[in-house]
Amino acid sequence: MKIILMGAPGTGKGTQSNFIKEKFNIPKITLGDLLRSKNTIKNEKIRKKINLIISSGKLVNDEIIFDLIKKRIYKKDCEKGFLLDGFPRTMKQAYFIKKEKIKIDYVIEFFMSTELIIKRILGRKIHIPSGRIYHSIFNPPIKEDIDDITGEKLTERNDDNILSIKKRIQEYKKFSKKLIKFYIKENKKKNIKYFRINTSISILEIQKKIKEILL
Ligand code: AP5
Repeated sequence: MKIILMGAPGTGKGTQSNFIKEKFNIPKITLGDLLRSKNTIKNEKIRKKINLIISSGKLVNDEIIFDLIKKRIYKKDCEKGFLLDGFPRTMKQAYFIKKEKIKIDYVIEFFMSTELIIKRILGRKIHIPSGRIYHSIFNPPIKEDIDDITGEKLTERNDDNILSIKKRIQEYKKFSKKLIKFYIKENKKKNIKYFRINTSISILEIQKKIKEILL
């Protein structure tokens, strides 16, 4: 099962990727996590450059993205399938998938109002090593600012500020229109199955909808 999860920032892709990974036993490939990780980007100069781009809310250049994707999707654990969270974001990235002859089964698009996106992102706390995601009000950890499983401290993302959020939403709107049209066409041709979920509902309700789609 090969799945693409797309949606504007803060619509819950990361939260539901963790659920899909556990439920369907496939690895999740979250581009944002790969770009933030010291393990994937070892060169400090390049990492600093990437951090600056991410903080500004712009997209990282394709050369870096394609290199990360190639290194990840051909690993053994991806043989039976994988979930792409936040890739593709542009038509060029969608063509890359075609060029690599990767057969995608499902594209699920999350959507929500900008107002709610901002509320969700501004309270976000993350546990970097595991990718677990919390929200100080909507999805709080048992102990404030502490990861439930490891007891380690939670952090905030550099790009979770209002300026960067607005830029990320702008970037999403700019590139996603063509991408969505493309996948709707692919759906009509029966090349993929395309679904949309309004993610302004609870985490559990979204999980239920995802199970209905994928089971
Ligand atoms: P990335 O890390 O992927 O960020 P994003 O796309 O902006 O999405 P977010 O991680 O902000 O949101 P999310 O949809 O995962 O929501 P979450 O589950 O956390 O990318 C960061 C940057 O990397 C990009 O800006 C770009 O620079 C670069 N990049 C990445 N991919 C790239 C690509 N392909 N090409 C080029 N550059 C790329 O949820 C948000 C909050 O809401 C959390 O606090 C959560 O607890 C809470 N929440 C979730 N669901 C619910 C719910 N149902 N009810 C209540 N609260 C909820």
